[in-house]
Amino acid sequence: MNQSIISGLGKYVPENVVTNDDLSKVMDTSNEWIIERTGIETRRHIKKGDGNTTAVMGVKAAKIALERARLTPQDIDLILFATLSPDYYFPGSGVLVQEMLQIPTCPAMDIRNQCSGFVYALATADQFVKTGMYQNVLVIGAENHSGGLDMSTRGRGVSVIFGDGAGAAVVSRYEGSDRGILSSHLHSEGQHAEELSLIGPSTNRWVPEIIAANDPQDTSYYPHMNGQFVFKNAVRRFSEVIIAGLEKNQLTPDQIKLLVPHQANLRISQFVQKKFGLRDDQVYNNIQKYGNTTAASIPIALTEAWEDGLLNEGDVVVLAAFGSGFTWGSTVLKW
Ligand code: ACO
Repeated sequence: MNQSIISGLGKYVPENVVTNDDLSKVMDTSNEWIIERTGIETRRHIKKGDGNTTAVMGVKAAKIALERARLTPQDIDLILFATLSPDYYFPGSGVLVQEMLQIPTCPAMDIRNQCSGFVYALATADQFVKTGMYQNVLVIGAENHSGGLDMSTRGRGVSVIFGDGAGAAVVSRYEGSDRGILSSHLHSEGQHAEELSLIGPSTNRWVPEIIAANDPQDTSYYPHMNGQFVFKNAVRRFSEVIIAGLEKNQLTPDQIKLLVPHQANLRISQFVQKKFGLRDDQVYNNIQKYGNTTAASIPIALTEAWEDGLLNEGDVVVLAAFGSGFTWGSTVLKW
């Protein structure tokens, strides 16, 4: 039977490092508060004029992933692009990647599942490969958050958390049963959509309406997050969806070589680690360096784990994510 393996990984983050002290110069916050509540020390922000967009960063990560998979762009049968911050309102960023990689034509689609976007995209790639429809699928998670954040004290509960960057994985057909994606577990709960959302501009709140209102107090075009509510739901759903993945594959926590959680908040990862009794070396965290990069966070973390030599053939790897929607999911794979 065909399996889907990750045959190449890559990442790109902008060069511009923003420290907590940098943020405390533009809003009422502090290095201590941010580290204590989130674990974040620095994040990367695109600098105006550095040429980066969501799709451009995705392409930079994708080129590395393709090279490591020993493939060329022409070998790609499908592009899946996970982001909440596409280059344009429409079209999606996937088609821009197809053009930038100079693939004559290929299917490309964007996946709008925020922090769970990469896990959803990986599950989609897995299905296309397992059914035999495609041989190689390029999965990208990329975000350009920085330009859209409220960098005043009013927005500090959200803006200190998020960073820019991109990660990419090539998912390829593997003829064998000893490796590959074992299962994916995906969920949504739309009743909480507005607890973590950006409402305007949208078809609910068109740009002309925002301009006509001319209201300096209008924050509808900034991300809104009910932090504590999101936190409580995150720890619950992370745990449930990891258990679902383990049970489905008759695995126990001690058999996990590496858990790569979406980098939402170091406190969430630590809660999950404790709940499953995992050792430090079984959980990968890099939120300290990059903040929360939403759809990019898992592929960036997975790439760094691979670069650090932490992933070897046959290792059980668990990916888990939770975010806006609410949406959440996990992937269990044998590296
Ligand atoms: N600096 C200093 N003070 C701050 C800051 C800041 N950056 N932000 C908020 N505060 C203040 C608040 O105003 C509040 O002050 P008050 O008590 O005087 O009213 C106080 O700190 C506590 O605020 P809380 O929001 O209750 O702080 P909390 O401990 O919940 O931490 C945080 C906030 C870090 C956002 C946390 O709730 C969290 O991580 N939530 C989950 C985030 C997450 O997982 N998101 C999902 C993925 S994101 C996606 O899908 C797009």
